[in-house]
Amino acid sequence: MKNIYSNILSFNKKTLKKTVKSLKLQNVASLPTETVYGLAANAYSLIAIKKIYKLKKRPKKNPLIIHYYDINDIKKDVIINNYFLKLYKKFCPGPITFILKKNKKTKIRSLATANLNTVAIRFPKHRVIRSVLGSINFPLAMPSANISSSLSPVSAFDVFEEFKKKVNIIIDGGRSKIGVESTVIDLVRKPKILRPGIISSKEIKKYLKVNISKGSTKVRSPGMLKKHYSPGIPVIIGKKPSNNKHAYIFIGKKSKNQNNYFSLSQKADLKEAAANLYKIMRKIKNRGFKKIFVAKIPNSGPGVAINDRLKRASR
Ligand code: TXA
Ligand code: MG
Repeated sequence: MKNIYSNILSFNKKTLKKTVKSLKLQNVASLPTETVYGLAANAYSLIAIKKIYKLKKRPKKNPLIIHYYDINDIKKDVIINNYFLKLYKKFCPGPITFILKKNKKTKIRSLATANLNTVAIRFPKHRVIRSVLGSINFPLAMPSANISSSLSPVSAFDVFEEFKKKVNIIIDGGRSKIGVESTVIDLVRKPKILRPGIISSKEIKKYLKVNISKGSTKVRSPGMLKKHYSPGIPVIIGKKPSNNKHAYIFIGKKSKNQNNYFSLSQKADLKEAAANLYKIMRKIKNRGFKKIFVAKIPNSGPGVAINDRLKRASR
């Protein structure tokens, strides 16, 4: 029988070589990271970047995050500052993205940064993406590997569900441990969180010793404007469903015979809850539920990221 998942590859020397070759030929590949799976392409190649936007059906005004192996690779692309150095030392490689000023000499294609004079950079931690980044001499533009505005993928099968065979290489690196996208922090001006993630503003504040502003993200993060992270069915926050055709997402212990109830974390751990969020929303959608109701989630630590994604999904 033909293997319908033939583009999902396990990770080894041979598939690393195949991936590197494909990226050098300006193609896209889906690679695992610790946050979510990404759709990777050479950030210095216009052909490659165009493929990302086309596959994702992504609006051109929404810039991409550029991924690097380590700090030695970024100098020709961005202007480094002290805030960045402090956070880099503490959190990288890891689930945090920095907005920095673009270096005028950069080879990053301006389509990848939506013509802005800033660049979003990240140093992912997952061993697969690090092996790939360590084997090439260009950075990778890499948005989450989902069709624009839908749920981000946290496994190779999730990516397959989004793109089927339109992506030739999907490397299976297991379930993404963090499960929500990186924290995005603007360091060009006064540090400001543009997208909350598992690294909280409280934690960042400890190291920068400045107040981190929140406020509106409208001006500074163009991609955060619209409906996002949507399972494709209505999401209603703060209410319980009145019948079992509708799913209910909550935190804590589940009792028997509640087949439409989905706990993000039975032991009420917010980090675990964040890691399960997209997985569970995708499961609910695939089981054919018509609506998702969600309990109120505490708005602290990882709860801030969970509430941010739920709020956008509910629009
Ligand atoms: O965890 C992650 O960050 C994942 C994995 C694959 O690395 N990537 C990811 O990329 O979430 P994406 O494209 O789905 O989200 C990128 C976000 C968008 O909200 C975009 O608007 C913002 O980063 N962004 C990118 N460049 C920016 C810039 N120069 N200024 C402000 N926001 C920017
Ligand atoms: Mg995304």
